[in-house]
Amino acid sequence: MQQIRASVAGEFDQVNQLIIQQLQSNVPLVENVGHYIVDAGGKRMRPLLTLLTARALGTCSAGHVTFAAVIEFIHTATLLHDDVVDVSQLRRGRPTANSEFGNASSVLVGDFLYTRAFQLMVQLDNIEILRHMADTTNTIAEGEVLQLTRAGNADTTEQDYIDIITRKTAVLFAAACYGAAVLSGADSTQAESLRRFGLHLGLAFQMIDDMLDYAGDADTMGKNVGDDLREGKVTLPLIHILRTGTADEQALVKRAITERSAAEMDAISAAVRRCAAIDYTRERAREHHDLAVAALAGLSAGPALEALQHLTRLSIDRDH
Ligand code: IPE
Ligand code: IPE
Ligand code: MG
Ligand code: MG
Repeated sequence: MQQIRASVAGEFDQVNQLIIQQLQSNVPLVENVGHYIVDAGGKRMRPLLTLLTARALGTCSAGHVTFAAVIEFIHTATLLHDDVVDVSQLRRGRPTANSEFGNASSVLVGDFLYTRAFQLMVQLDNIEILRHMADTTNTIAEGEVLQLTRAGNADTTEQDYIDIITRKTAVLFAAACYGAAVLSGADSTQAESLRRFGLHLGLAFQMIDDMLDYAGDADTMGKNVGDDLREGKVTLPLIHILRTGTADEQALVKRAITERSAAEMDAISAAVRRCAAIDYTRERAREHHDLAVAALAGLSAGPALEALQHLTRLSIDRDH
């Protein structure tokens, strides 16, 4: 990741400066909560995708830098909201904004970041970008609501799961790449390929995130393991057990989902191991990794393309 950031170091610094500058507000609590989550860092995967896509298509302009900041603002807003909804306690290695400042502050500052992103986007003066981002953010909101209505429901299928993660996660990765292509003046075929690249990368990324919720380490990830089970979230590792586990294992997982409880986490972990649910999830993520890389076929060879391929690889070979 360090190496990839270094390949767009100048623009990456500009994005971070713009993010800090755009957190400014006359209302102190906005800045406090905003800085609290932004200063904790994060991988900055999505703005990197924007910058690298721009480079792969030619040059990275001031517009690309602005758009990269927009994407990170939207991502950050969704995290503030998501941690309230998921009642999460740990994010980016520190207590979540909701546990530090309360739910109301998190929701309202999330709104500030969302709307600030649209203010910034207007500066780009590009109706196709505005249209695409209006649709994207609307879809993300739908995805989170869909997930909410599916939580606690053990009948959730793999297709339902794909629908949810496409909306809540993959469309933002897709937009990070598509928007960069639009700003570069790419033709519609090229822009569509890059959108598909981001979409598959985002699907792979979320599958690994859901896998890490069972197989990861809280210190390394900077967020707690087991949150999904506690929320009754039906993710790929559980779906695999529900399909291939013994009757006892299926009953165990159904109970945990319905009761939204991690009380039987040890038994669930044993079932995850016995059913090779981690391997299954990795394989599905690997398929989307391959589809993502295939979508890059139209780009010319060079360091930017290599960095995009590398970033795709890292999105599945990661422990945080
Ligand atoms: C977390 O995203 C939310 C998911 C889509 C899984 P990231 O893992 O990119 O979060 P940060 O920005 O690095 O903290
Ligand atoms: C993150 O989703 C929020 C969005 C993708 C909108 P998750 O709830 O799956 O991610 P973490 O595990 O809290 O980061
Ligand atoms: Mg969450
Ligand atoms: Mg998660």
